[in-house]
Amino acid sequence: MKHQIGEKELRVAVMVSGGGSNLDAIFQAIAKKKLTNVQIVCVGSDNPGAYALTRAENAKIPTFILDYKEALKIIRNGGEPPEGFKIPASVVDQESAQKLAAKALAEAKLLEIMQKYKVDLLVLAGFMKILTPYFLNHFQPDPFKPRILNIHPALLPAFPGTDGYKDAWDYGVKVYGPTVHFVDKGVDTCAIIGQVALCRKESDTFEEFKDRGLRAEWELYPKCIRLFADGRLIVESGEDGKRNLVRISP
Ligand code: GRF
Repeated sequence: MKHQIGEKELRVAVMVSGGGSNLDAIFQAIAKKKLTNVQIVCVGSDNPGAYALTRAENAKIPTFILDYKEALKIIRNGGEPPEGFKIPASVVDQESAQKLAAKALAEAKLLEIMQKYKVDLLVLAGFMKILTPYFLNHFQPDPFKPRILNIHPALLPAFPGTDGYKDAWDYGVKVYGPTVHFVDKGVDTCAIIGQVALCRKESDTFEEFKDRGLRAEWELYPKCIRLFADGRLIVESGEDGKRNLVRISP
């Protein structure tokens, strides 16, 4: 798990789907040397219109597109899923099986690109696709050596899913905030690395509530990447035997 500080920089790929304010926060942290021994080697997206890609291009970082729609067309026209892909027993209908095979086909390209750039860590920063077991088995086969991070806009395990701020706001929570966690085969389920607890103000509009959350994300994500780069994240079995937990070594 330990990344050898000083021996070489951690090579990071970032996947994005939208505006890329978290990507920008990572760039800023590197520029200000708050995040050291880390190099962003490529930025990819499922969305060719993502402004995050422009941010990466401005920073002279190579970018790429993962075309999930094209992959689905290929599979629907009888194309083969990547070698090693298996349809889980839980998937019984043809439509779902095809969608999963198409995702794996797009992910095979991601694996190829990450191999080309010799990626050590994959950072999901507003990436709106769920990675399949096919991808996870290839990139992080050892559950005690995870190397995919995600930021979620809610205090997990509360409000998993795509719209954490809105869900928390609608629920009327008084405390909320982002979570950085490792990624596993569930949705927003894996070991928690860091969280920030924020208070909702009585006077808040939703925009103010969300804006405070986003600002906390921009602080939290670079800090968690730094913990990974410094080899300080130790993954251990939880006492309940059901989940793995992250211990932060001093
Ligand atoms: C963030 O709120 C992040 O937590 C969520 O999607 C949003 C992405 O924002 N997963 P950005 O693209 O980094 O600006």
